[in-house]
Amino acid sequence: MFVAAALLAVQAVSTPLGEEPTDPYTISNVNAGAKPSGDPRVFAAWNGKVGIDRVVDRFVDRNFADPRISDIFKNHDQVRLRRALKEQFCFILGGECDYTGRNMRNSHKDLGIQNADMNALVENLQTAMGEEKVPFWAQNKLLAKLAPMRRDVVER
Ligand code: HEM
Repeated sequence: MFVAAALLAVQAVSTPLGEEPTDPYTISNVNAGAKPSGDPRVFAAWNGKVGIDRVVDRFVDRNFADPRISDIFKNHDQVRLRRALKEQFCFILGGECDYTGRNMRNSHKDLGIQNADMNALVENLQTAMGEEKVPFWAQNKLLAKLAPMRRDVVER
């Protein structure tokens, strides 16, 4: 009984405003798929939380508008996706945020994502980082953390 109550406490039991409900899952920063950068210069080079939020918004806009991959994104909860990506990038870039989304394998399951889709998405991310004038060395910090996630996102 106590165990059940404790488990419930860490599950996503409420739905943030404007988002669609999801099946319950256990919230953990481990779901972000990478450990945070320990170098404070990285977060600063991204212009902090506001810079990360701007990059994510431009990145998501591009993905939904990109004819190469827009079919994969349409009909998915854009409000939730923006929030989860902002948390994930902030956590990974050492911004002391918590990630409350699902892990990469479960959130991309059955989406049919191929290597070419992943490449298109990375291109859109590079454009968004460039628009924020994130220096290349700090862009690469994020890209290096995301690269191993390809195996959880791309369908084999
Ligand atoms: C390393 C690369 C990637 C990362 C870090 C990433 C990150 C994320 C995150 C944080 C979420 C939200 C999880 C949640 O709702 O709990 C998500 C969902 C999603 N991602 Fe990705 N993603 C990546 C690659 C891709 C690619 C290549 C595509 C398609 C071209 C894609 C399409 C989607 C879609 C459609 C959703 C929404 C799923 C749903 O509503 O159930 N992602 N992604």
